[in-house]
Amino acid sequence: MSLDLVQKHFDKKAQDFDDIYTGQKSSFGRYLDKILRWDMEKRFNRTIEECGDITGKTILDVGCGSGRFMLALHKKNPKLITGLDFAPKMLEIAEKLLKKDLPDTPTKLIEGEYGGIEFKEPFDIIIAIGLFDYIDDAPAMLKKMRKDTKEKIIASFPVKGTFRAFIRKIRLGLYKCPVYYFSEEDVKKLFTEAGFKDIKMEKFGQLIFAAAH
Ligand SMILES: C[S@@+](CC[C@H](N)C(=O)[O-])C[C@H]1O[C@@H](n2cnc3c(N)ncnc32)[C@H](O)[C@@H]1O
Repeated sequence: MSLDLVQKHFDKKAQDFDDIYTGQKSSFGRYLDKILRWDMEKRFNRTIEECGDITGKTILDVGCGSGRFMLALHKKNPKLITGLDFAPKMLEIAEKLLKKDLPDTPTKLIEGEYGGIEFKEPFDIIIAIGLFDYIDDAPAMLKKMRKDTKEKIIASFPVKGTFRAFIRKIRLGLYKCPVYYFSEEDVKKLFTEAGFKDIKMEKFGQLIFAAAH
């Protein structure tokens, strides 16, 4: 039920979400994004940096949305980047973007719910950015990610207990979209219980950025 609501929300808001990256909105909208969403740009840059040299590697982007991370990572010569999302409109944007900017690069987009998809081979790296915000069973998802990755997972988690978290819960509640928050202790516990040993965390803006082996 909760998954259904998240899927519907992102299907409806796909273009608005991608506009945060393109800045194709009113100047006031851009101004608000700059002040309130600067951490999205930082998590984008940190993710690309944290992936390191991905030459010849396989990457799974869970909740790939409009494909902005896939686009940036494809330029770093990976073997294959697979994007997975359950919102068809998000994938439509991703497909157009990848075809336009990287017409000759093999791209794999999968429409579906991550928990319900079995992969034959684990990926070198999994990225899960802006995903755990919407996951009601984060321990189960992280355990599956542990199984589906050989090297590392890079993920972001929205911070619990801030005024902005409260406002966002109300705003998303108006769209009937659930949202979940985490403390650094929660994130550490999640990774440890999923079997990760080396866990790095950074807190900036409204989020916790984590990379674990
Ligand atoms: C906030 S967007 C983030 C998109 C992208 N990672 C980014 O940061 O630009 C979250 C995405 O996760 C997808 N999503 C949420 N839960 C999912 C699940 N269980 N399986 C597949 N996709 C999911 C949503 O459809 C949405 O496109």
